[in-house]
This record gives sequence, C-alpha cells and structure tokens, in this order.
Amino acid sequence: MGDVRLSLLSRRKPAPLEIRLAGEADRHSISHLLSDARWKHQHLDWIDTLGLLGQQPFLTAFEQGRMVGTMAFPPDPPDVAWLRVFAVARGHSPATVWESLWPEALVRVSQAGVKRLAVLDVGGWLRPILEGSGFAPTTAVTFLEWNDSRLPEALAGLEGLRKLTFDDLPALAVLDGRAFGSIWRHSQEVLGLALRQASLASVVERDGQPVAYQLSTASAYGAHLARLAVDPSWQDRGIGTNLVVHVLGHFARQGFTRVTLNTQADNERGLSLYKRLGFSETGQRYPVFEEEVL
Ligand SMILES: CC(C)(COP(=O)(O)OP(=O)(O)OC[C@H]1O[C@@H](n2cnc3c(N)ncnc32)[C@H](O)[C@@H]1OP(=O)(O)O)[C@@H](O)C(=O)NCCC(=O)NCCS
Repeated sequence: MGDVRLSLLSRRKPAPLEIRLAGEADRHSISHLLSDARWKHQHLDWIDTLGLLGQQPFLTAFEQGRMVGTMAFPPDPPDVAWLRVFAVARGHSPATVWESLWPEALVRVSQAGVKRLAVLDVGGWLRPILEGSGFAPTTAVTFLEWNDSRLPEALAGLEGLRKLTFDDLPALAVLDGRAFGSIWRHSQEVLGLALRQASLASVVERDGQPVAYQLSTASAYGAHLARLAVDPSWQDRGIGTNLVVHVLGHFARQGFTRVTLNTQADNERGLSLYKRLGFSETGQRYPVFEEEVL
C-alpha cells in the first residue's frame, strides 16, 4: 500500500487562479511574463503592450502571488475588441489560463458595449482554444510583396496630394470607418500612433477635404505600406492606384527594392489593385477568428 496522503494530494485539482485587472503596478511583472512566456500572442500593429495598461479589459491571472497569465482585449473602435495580448508563464497550460481569464474578459467587453471580438491567429496554437470559446474563422490576413525594379505607371494625375498631419486625424478616422468593414476600422487614437511611426504619410484632397490616405513605414527590414483607404464615394477614379505608385516611387528613390503589405484574403478590390501594380502574395497567411458579443 503506498502513501495514501501523497496520492490524494497528487489527485487534488489545482487551486483556481486569481484574476485581477492589470494596472500600473503590474508593469514589471507583465514585462517579465512577456519576456519569459512559452505561449505568447501579441498582435499590436502600432500599439505597445505596456501602453495598453489602463485600458480594460487588461486582465492578469495569479497563482500563489505569481503572475502566470495575462489577456488584453481593449475596445478600439468602441464596438470592436481585438485580442492584443495573451501570454502564459512557463509550466502552465494555455487552455487552463485562457479558461480562467476568458469569462471575465467576456463580461467586461460586453459591459463596455463591444459587439464583436476578433483574434489574428499568428501562431496556430490558439485555434482549438478559440473554437472552444465560440470563435469561428472568418477570413485571413495575407501578405504581399513588391520587388520589381520597374515602377508601375500612374493613372491620370494625382492632384491634391499632400503630407498627412495630425490635424487630419479626426477626418481620417471618419474616412477609415467608411472605407473599412467592421473589425478593420481604426480609431483616431490608433491612427495617431500609426502616424508617429510612419516614414511616409500622405493625404489626397478634393474640394479641401481628405478623400484618401496612406501610411507607410521603413526600417532595416524594408518598406511597408501599412494603411491605404479611399473614401467609398471617391473610389474607382484611380486615387488608390496613384497613392500606391507614389509610395513605390518614394521608396524606390530611397533605395528600397522590396515593399511589403498585408490585407484581408477576401479583399478582392485591394488584391486586384496590388497585383495589377506588381505585388504578389508571399503565401504567408494568418487566420482571423471572430465572435459576436451578445
Ligand atoms: C482598395 C482601394 C484602396 C482601391 O482604391 P480606388 O481608389 O478605388 O482604386 P483605383 O480607382 O485606383 O482602382 C480601382 C479600379 O478602377 C480602375 N480605374 C480607376 N481609374 C482608372 C482610370 N483612370 N483608368 C483605368 N482604370 C481605372 C482601376 O484599374 C481598378 O481596376 P481593378 O479593380 O481591375 O484593379 C479602395 O477600394 C479602399 O479604400 N477600400 C477599402 C479599404 C481597403 O481595402 N484598403 C486596402 C487594403 S488594406
């Protein structure tokens, strides 16, 4: 007969994790968790993880005083929340930590008025967890690159092109909301973050009003067209084409031989435009999962 006390102990269910809202005081623990995590999802675009502190729901899970998980679903725009961060400490199961954090996150996004949740499944390991929580795949993000030394031709002249400034952001947030569908819209705040990181940012005006814009970045990794939108009432007039030709010309003059971008795999208009201008899909794709909040 073995040690009854030990076998009972080993069969005991682990204590439930303690869930808390993240705050400024957690900055160091979250940094540590992110740098050490075995399972880590970070989909940040222009956002910085610790810059999300103060926005809710940003939740943390503790076991015996030690942070073992974190999850951030900050609404932006107000009716949509993307999973920006989900990280799990070594030695813990992502499914178990998710099950502890997810119900609290769901209640909080619902109370905040969020109607739709979205997750970009970059690593693949989140899929079973997401499906078990009611998420379904809706589309994918596909990556494209241009590495053609010949610049494509512009269509009729690109009048009204000028530098994008911070004063444009309120109007561009409205334009962005009109051009992009539900989960893809960006708020003025996120567009502001994008502008701070842009190396080329341009607006096209008609009658003194912005009708299209683009934001691009450049780094040691190459040039990247991060955002392009034309107001629906100004589409099909060559403005999108000419903005992309303008971006390619700018980066080619700076010596870049490769420009990348990504878009929704079901964005036929965008894909058609990019392929016509010499971009091709790289084959890299990440599925997008969505769930309606009731
Ligand atoms: C995708 C998007 C940027 C295209 O902008 P647009 O200004 O309508 O694009 P264009 O007018 O340059 O091109 C649209 C079509 O009109 C045609 N066209 C427009 N003006 C033309 C002209 N003067 N001569 C010949 N063809 C012309 C283009 O050839 C193109 O045809 P295609 O669909 O076969 O490629 C725009 O639809 C949009 O903002 N969509 C929502 C946001 C989005 O999807 N952004 C990009 C992906 S992240």
